Amino acid sequence: MRLGWIDLLHFRSYDRMRFEPADGVNVLVGPNGAGKTNLLESIGYLATLRSFRGVADEVLIADDADEAVLRGEVTSQRGSALVELEISRSRRRRVLINGSKPGRTTDLRSYVRVVAFLPDDIDMVKRGPALRRGLFDDAAVQLWPAAAAEQRDYERAVAQRNALLRSGRVDRFTLQVWNDRVAHAGAKLMQRRRAAAEALMRHAPATYAAIAGRETPVELEYRSTWGGDLSDEDDTADLLAEALEASEGVDRERRQTTVGPHRDEPRFLVAGRGARDSASQGEQRTLALSLRLAELRAVAEVAGEPPILLLDDVFSELDAGRAKALAAALPGTQTFVTTARVEDVPLEGRRWDVTSGKVD
Ligand SMILES: Nc1ncnc2c1ncn2[C@@H]1O[C@H](COP(=O)(O)OP(=O)(O)OP(=O)(O)O)[C@@H](O)[C@H]1O
Ligand SMILES: [Mg+2]
Repeated sequence: MRLGWIDLLHFRSYDRMRFEPADGVNVLVGPNGAGKTNLLESIGYLATLRSFRGVADEVLIADDADEAVLRGEVTSQRGSALVELEISRSRRRRVLINGSKPGRTTDLRSYVRVVAFLPDDIDMVKRGPALRRGLFDDAAVQLWPAAAAEQRDYERAVAQRNALLRSGRVDRFTLQVWNDRVAHAGAKLMQRRRAAAEALMRHAPATYAAIAGRETPVELEYRSTWGGDLSDEDDTADLLAEALEASEGVDRERRQTTVGPHRDEPRFLVAGRGARDSASQGEQRTLALSLRLAELRAVAEVAGEPPILLLDDVFSELDAGRAKALAAALPGTQTFVTTARVEDVPLEGRRWDVTSGKVD
């Protein structure tokens, strides 16, 4: 998969810009604040319709403008797609693919997928469980685009059950209805999370060994708040429904849904020890990178070709050996790498100088 070109209008620090990258590795070099991450973010947005920085659309519009426009051409085995996007402060976002509105936003993912390596990825390992749940859920969307709608269904069901609990007018019958919805949506979410975790863990020991330079056991432990786990599939909905019923008392008191996949705690283990509590900073970073590499391999398998790679400033934090190993583990696909110091990047490629608002 590759990006042929991208046009930006009033996107973040870019007033008007056209970028025609090379097919292989593109190294984007520039000082802090030059707009390197912004450019990567625009490519990610074009492919996924959301910012990898997790911010609201409005933040992407240049400060002095009312709307941002992104246009670009992406090519995969399926053919080429012209993607056009308009983000406005006052209107709904507009998306066109080859000139027409996509039936579902998932259509875009049949043309293009991206995997992004970000400096904050280490937080998946270091911080609370929400980011680890996010890793599985985001990977699931990249692997099976239909997972996105299932995740929204679950979030909505939990939000509505919570709204009922907060309303102070909780009757058993209505609560039962929402228990059922949460349980069914939760079972679907869990099925995807299981499959995504399995796909990632199938590759992670090898990708960890590739970066670290030695075999190290990498494991995943899934602690559930409701008795569900990553192995059995059949009775997930029943199990979750029972747990929801059992926690009705607590939930009424706390006015929120306290059990379910949205509270589960995935944990990574490196060499048998909890990575959050016991791994060194370098090991945590290696694990985060190996999980992204695992995602990349899983996505390439499912899509039948490697996705576009975005690497935001990832080499500067690694020692020379690990930086080289990471570079060697990447597939030969179109890659965008940002750096403030070009000597930190052990990849050969087309070099671009990024200055405020310009790339050449
Ligand atoms: N909506 C916006 N409108 C105008 N400028 C913006 C907007 N959002 C961010 N910026 C500016 O973009 C610049 C940051 O760009 P970016 O994050 O791409 O830098 P960078 O080259 O990646 O720097 P670093 O090397 O520090 O990571 C900041 O100066 C910021 O003020
Ligand atoms: Mg940056």
